[in-house]
Amino acid sequence: MNTYNDVSESLQPNANWKPNSWRDKDVLQQPTWPDQEAQEAILNQIRDLPPLVFAGEAKDLTTELAAVARGEAFLLQAGDCAESFDTSADSIRDRLRVILQMAVVLTYYTGVPVLKIGRIAGQFAKPRSNDTETVDGVELPSFRGHIVNDPSFTAGARTADPSRLLTAYNRAAATLNLLRAFTKGGFADLSRVHQWNREFVAASPVGQRYEELAEEIDRAVQFMHACGVTSDRLAELSQVDFYTSHEALLLDYEEALTRCDSLTNEWYDCSAHMLWIGERTRQIDGAHVEFLRGVQNPLGCKIGPTTTPTEVHQLCSALNPEKIPGRLTLITRMGATKIIDQLPPLLEAASEADHPVVWVCDPMHGNTFTTSDGHKTRHFEDVLAEVSGFFAVHRLVGTIPGGVHLELTGDDVTECLGGGTEVFNSDLGQRYESMCDPRLNGEQSVELAFRLAELLRDSDR
Ligand code: PEP
Ligand code: CO
Repeated sequence: MNTYNDVSESLQPNANWKPNSWRDKDVLQQPTWPDQEAQEAILNQIRDLPPLVFAGEAKDLTTELAAVARGEAFLLQAGDCAESFDTSADSIRDRLRVILQMAVVLTYYTGVPVLKIGRIAGQFAKPRSNDTETVDGVELPSFRGHIVNDPSFTAGARTADPSRLLTAYNRAAATLNLLRAFTKGGFADLSRVHQWNREFVAASPVGQRYEELAEEIDRAVQFMHACGVTSDRLAELSQVDFYTSHEALLLDYEEALTRCDSLTNEWYDCSAHMLWIGERTRQIDGAHVEFLRGVQNPLGCKIGPTTTPTEVHQLCSALNPEKIPGRLTLITRMGATKIIDQLPPLLEAASEADHPVVWVCDPMHGNTFTTSDGHKTRHFEDVLAEVSGFFAVHRLVGTIPGGVHLELTGDDVTECLGGGTEVFNSDLGQRYESMCDPRLNGEQSVELAFRLAELLRDSDR
């Protein structure tokens, strides 16, 4: 078993940090496991399992994020709100496919490389506003993501089941394996750019626009082939780098996958390349900040409309004391109506202290509302308005808008309102499949990429 005494204290980057030092702090948003012994036994098994990602990959991602911070690349971080254990291989492929489509649109129109990070292969745990949910007078524990329980409203389904921790690890491993195969094994080849367009997207005006762009890329690829530049000579034509990320919420699980890199003697949380802290768990003296400050993966932290400049300063100092470019991404989720007022002082706080933040806009979580018939939704135009405000504020303050953080799926769902082939209020019930927050569907996602590309071109980033 992996113990923390393997590495001498003096070699640790943070002498007063250990993978379990978070246990001395207040820890929010953890489930109540009814059988503690069973949970401990499962965690011991996970401690003995191989890491899901390697330290070198996480380090490479930090380097790539540093390019984002300098404005030399654009970050597209996207995927499900809550990943399901029941996700099919087709659904994983289609999520990857829509992210590749979006990246092609953005790269083509802006000439800037797009760094791709999925909310995938581990995005199984959800923070909740309430510990319990009451339906028709029956009170049960809230659904906390498939890593904890099941969304069905029965006492059995909602009881936290530790065997799900192991299933999460296995699911993450299988998803990652498939992603590696798709991104390195030919699916991402630029000559397949047409084939990424799914039928339901291709039939729409934005799909047609994508087809035209794919036509131009095809011609460019043929031209390169004629000049002798082929996929077997230039890997960039046929392979893409794709990184994984999730909210590091269940600290027991994250700790069990935290390993000391034998080359550098540094600690990495090997459950994903990048981990982020959610809006509900970013307390400066809390367990989540304590845990993540000690691992060397690139980190994200969500910051909402109540965040103060002092908090930004404290988070930067705690999570990136050495001011390493690419180490810390602050993901702002203000809401379309608040971003113009709330964001500037936060950007200034980091700039004044010379903190090299990667600034990313999550235009989803500040724009959620519930319709009169009970659907949690977001409007495409609000999402776009928040991104537009994000670019405007950065231009004003002189900081760099690094990218976007989105909840989307490649499937033809009806969860968010609006978009070119407009989803109306009355459509929401048709294909509402999210277990948690509403996601942009494939067509809305590609449309957003075109609108983003226009904003980026206009913002002389
Ligand atoms: C999320 O990303 O799904 C989420 C819960 O976000 P936030 O922490 O910003 O509310
Ligand atoms: Co969400």
